[in-house]
Amino acid sequence: MTATGLSAISFHTPHRYIGLDTLAEHHGIDPDKFSKGIGQEKIALPGHDEDIVTMAAEAAKPIIDRYGSDGIDTVLFATETGIDQSKAAGIYMHRLLGLPANCRNVEFKQACYSATAALQMACSYVARKPDRKVLVIASDVARYDLDSSGEATQGAGAVAMLVTANPTVLEIGANSGVFTEDIMDFWRPNDRRTPLFDGKYSTLRYLNAMIEAWKDYSENGGHSYDAFSHFCYHLPFSRMGEKAHRHLAKANKAPIEMDKALTGMAYNRVIGNSYTASIYLAVLSTLENTYADLTGQLLGLFSYGSGATGEFFDAKVVEGYQDHLFTARHANILNERIAVSYDDYVSLWNAYPLDDGSATMPEEARGRYRLASIDENKRIYIDQHA
Ligand code: CAA
Repeated sequence: MTATGLSAISFHTPHRYIGLDTLAEHHGIDPDKFSKGIGQEKIALPGHDEDIVTMAAEAAKPIIDRYGSDGIDTVLFATETGIDQSKAAGIYMHRLLGLPANCRNVEFKQACYSATAALQMACSYVARKPDRKVLVIASDVARYDLDSSGEATQGAGAVAMLVTANPTVLEIGANSGVFTEDIMDFWRPNDRRTPLFDGKYSTLRYLNAMIEAWKDYSENGGHSYDAFSHFCYHLPFSRMGEKAHRHLAKANKAPIEMDKALTGMAYNRVIGNSYTASIYLAVLSTLENTYADLTGQLLGLFSYGSGATGEFFDAKVVEGYQDHLFTARHANILNERIAVSYDDYVSLWNAYPLDDGSATMPEEARGRYRLASIDENKRIYIDQHA
């Protein structure tokens, strides 16, 4: 069978954030509740002219610059925060990146899970057509109502992945375990900008879906728990990943070795939830922040999307993977960010996303791509270097 998986993976997040200590101070609560109880430090905040399309283009651009776009004939764009009920967000990005016109483009939705469906389908496709490549995008703005219990778990970010045959970074295993149940733990009706959710219930259903997916993975011939050197979880907040890791270890009567999951949480702790992108940020964090050579090691991945669907699968690290990472670039993105005050955070929160028929956006994005305006409900994206 042809090996398939990732030959490149890169992220982007906006350059502004609010520190959760600032949020705690405003609400008059102990900052430890966020740093320890929730396990988060910062919430990434998009400007008026940044959204899932601009973040996706920023994340994918370094991959296109390094590897070119030859052979990419499919863009799968996964998001919970779609900007249009009809048109796929990937089509705007496709133009910004100058991808080949002979390319299919589609948007995937199932809460935070859909990037995993996109990745699995991309792997199946390149197994059938090994000379083709698929650009898989996970891009989201996690936004909860101000003063709600979810407020501290907001964030924003995009991950771009180049899926190929004979991958150079991660080989995605053919075995996976899946689980679906019809529940209302987190959902967003069409007329709402923010989700409705039952927070505590959602954390319990997440754990249940993980165990059910793990059982299915094991029954489908998956690796045993001991075979994994690291685990990457969907991380709505990093404490959720700690709970998941403890739960999975206990279910397997294994010792709780938190270091097998913690490296994967470093990026999420300072970016916040990024829905579809969060598990792939955990993958990147594991690859880029583990100083030991991971060649040949097996990662266990659990992807969860409320509503709910979960999937457990595995990925093997390919020799030479370090040469295909963007570690220094990612460090710069995180190091060059600026903190905003509580008042600036509220003003950004209220302005995004604009849904009036027409608007000109203030120039706030520091990156190359901007949502310049909305003109009679048409979103106008620009490449500032064009
Ligand atoms: N010092 C240290 N810890 C503290 C503390 C302090 N001063 N004060 C509180 N804590 C601890 C609490 O003891 C609690 O710990 P445990 O989880 O171990 O019980 C933790 O901080 C959280 O505090 P609360 O129990 O008071 O919970 P909360 O009201 O802040 O809500 C939440 C937590 C339910 C997760 C909320 O953030 C939420 O609703 N988030 C949105 C929904 C969500 O992310 N769900 C996750 C599963 S669904 C999913 O994964 C999809 C998705 O992306 C949304």
